[in-house]
Amino acid sequence: MMTTATDQQDFTTLPEMPEGVFTAPLKRPAHVGDDWLEPKQTEYTGEDDAIWNDLFARQMDVLPGRAASAFMNGLEKLDLGQGGVPDFGRLSEELDRLTGWSVVPVPMLIPDHVFFWHLANRRFPAGNFIRTRETFDYIQEPDVFHDVFGHVPMLTDPVYADYMQEYGKAGWKAMRYNRLKALGALYWYTVEFGLMLEHGEVRAYGAGILSGPTEVVFAVEGRSPNRIMLSVDRVMRTDYVISDLQPTYFVIESFEDLYRQTVERDFDRLYRNLPPAFTYANSAIIDVDNVAHRGTQEYLLRGGRGSGADPV
Ligand SMILES: [Fe+2]
Repeated sequence: MMTTATDQQDFTTLPEMPEGVFTAPLKRPAHVGDDWLEPKQTEYTGEDDAIWNDLFARQMDVLPGRAASAFMNGLEKLDLGQGGVPDFGRLSEELDRLTGWSVVPVPMLIPDHVFFWHLANRRFPAGNFIRTRETFDYIQEPDVFHDVFGHVPMLTDPVYADYMQEYGKAGWKAMRYNRLKALGALYWYTVEFGLMLEHGEVRAYGAGILSGPTEVVFAVEGRSPNRIMLSVDRVMRTDYVISDLQPTYFVIESFEDLYRQTVERDFDRLYRNLPPAFTYANSAIIDVDNVAHRGTQEYLLRGGRGSGADPV
């Protein structure tokens, strides 16, 4: 990925964000250090645990037959449905046994360079707080349900687990070339909103899809969105929306396919040829695309979430 023998480097120490690289202005809370880790996981109330249980039950109504089997197996391996917000220590022990990963609590979104550093060392930073009944249906800031339910089961898959680590390592190079936006698009269209083929059928493996009830159905079965076979170069040139359902999803053949496409790609060369801004609109289909489904885009054309359009 992203990394080659000629640019071996130390991923164990926190990288510096180079001058002039744009990142979201996040203010570090006083009680966390440079690693942004909470000293310990929040103690959840009975109501917090009830919210987790209700969110869990709601997802289990829509996920079977739509979520990737790696995800469903991960839920089971980690026993995420045993009731209440899971204990990160218990999850980490189990994950360590399976793929060498751990889950660590963070207070909020963390800066890119800190995030890359944790991933490169097989630590998944998970939001500590859980949403409220008022924000039950939609929150923009990732909470413990999105992070643990959506992301952590996938880390039980050995190839996916390696991909996530390589993604973290890739951050060093993206910072050097000032191409965090492009690398961010790759994360968005794989880790958050990725689809894959299983026995010729489309299934979801992205956490942004799997942690909400509407997008699972929309992404896998909806007629509005495009479903395009993933090419890393194409994805890294494509804009994305953060506050609505995606107009386009990218589909992988398998995690081996995703890992190979990224690890074998010469990212130095890619970044040198990549403009700083995105080239393609998020609803576009371009002539080189291998299109699995050409979307009608009717959800988007009717105004999307703001207009109350049907997510079909
Ligand atoms: Fe996420």
